[in-house]
Amino acid sequence: MVNTKLCLLLMLVFSLCACGKDDKAQTSADLTPTKICSLVSTKDNSPLVIKVLSTDTPQAKEFLITCINPYTKLYAKDAEAAKVGKKQFSYQGCSGCHGGNANGLMGPSLIDAKWQYAKHISDKGMFETIAGGTNGSPPEWGSMLTWHNQLAGHTGEGLDTDTILKIMAWLRTQYIGGGETPWLN
Ligand code: HEC
Repeated sequence: MVNTKLCLLLMLVFSLCACGKDDKAQTSADLTPTKICSLVSTKDNSPLVIKVLSTDTPQAKEFLITCINPYTKLYAKDAEAAKVGKKQFSYQGCSGCHGGNANGLMGPSLIDAKWQYAKHISDKGMFETIAGGTNGSPPEWGSMLTWHNQLAGHTGEGLDTDTILKIMAWLRTQYIGGGETPWLN
């Protein structure tokens, strides 16, 4: 009798251990590159399908999995590295609408605390707007163009994931809006 109880107890302990192991296995599977950052369009919240390409940089691949821009913290510490983002901002024509210093022209300032869409405080949200464009709502400024070269209707030759991330990271270094800076968390 005692033996049966002991046996049952042991079985219980072992099954609990097995459960623990299963949980761990699942967690590590979640971190494999099969998992993706689920981007949505700023226009209509539909899925924004941007694929990880074999030619993508490690930083672009990382972002498309984690939704976190790896350049942001790097540029915050290294003004010299950030210049790559500023150069692209001008070269790609962003400055034509947003001003050479991104503080606004015929498009809104990108470095103050007034965001057209609240989600722009996150890397994911800002990327969604630059990659896929907007419908111009709220309507005060009109709409933003579509930039990502994997999306239909993109501007000119379009931009790849890495270029958008570099521009975004430079924009974050220029932020003068005060208050919270969640992109650095
Ligand atoms: C033809 C003009 C034009 C160009 C060129 C342009 N934008 Fe915009 N952009 C806009 C307008 C207008 C909005 C406001 C959209 C809205 O409110 O829906 C905007 C919004 C944005 C926002 C969100 C701003 C906020 O305050 O929330 C970001 C970020 C942005 N643009 C980045 C870029 C980047 C990066 C480029 C270059 C790759 C670029 N834009 C090129 C017109 C432009």
